[in-house]
Amino acid sequence: MRRIAILVVALAGLLAAQDHKGFDAAMKSADTSIKALNKMEAKTGPEAVSTAERLAGLYEEMVGFWRQRGKADAVKFSVEGKAAALALMEAAYAGNGQDAAAALKSLGATCRGCHQAYRVKRPDGTSTFPELWREPKK
Ligand code: HEC
Repeated sequence: MRRIAILVVALAGLLAAQDHKGFDAAMKSADTSIKALNKMEAKTGPEAVSTAERLAGLYEEMVGFWRQRGKADAVKFSVEGKAAALALMEAAYAGNGQDAAAALKSLGATCRGCHQAYRVKRPDGTSTFPELWREPKK
């Protein structure tokens, strides 16, 4: 577990800018990561571990991001997602495909939960959350 903790801390920083662009970049990275995991036949092995690790780092960043903005339910989704990503990492490392798949499912539920509450889709297909950023996305 100690190894895991150190790696997660090393990954922090993507959202350091704490702005909309940084947030989008983090979301795109989360999207790429979870799609890669979904595609893997077995959710175990080194690639699954490192992908879950990236997600844990992103969620760690999100916890701080949402805390700063006082959005308790979004913080909750972020904390749950981080826990799921860490569980996935451990199961993938241990070669436990069943637990890894279950953790991936919980992780995916946090994406949907937070999007339902906070993601606003624009007619052109892009998305934003206007209560936080009133300027249009460039
Ligand atoms: C705690 C809240 C939260 C969680 C958890 C979360 N998202 Fe998001 N996501 C948002 C919000 C809010 C937006 C809209 C903001 C924006 O587009 O700028 C968004 C936008 C996105 C976008 C569009 C980005 C863009 O450039 O328009 C993608 C892709 C995305 N999320 C993927 C994911 C995936 C995959 C997960 C889970 C692994 C996830 N998100 C988890 C809040 C969250």
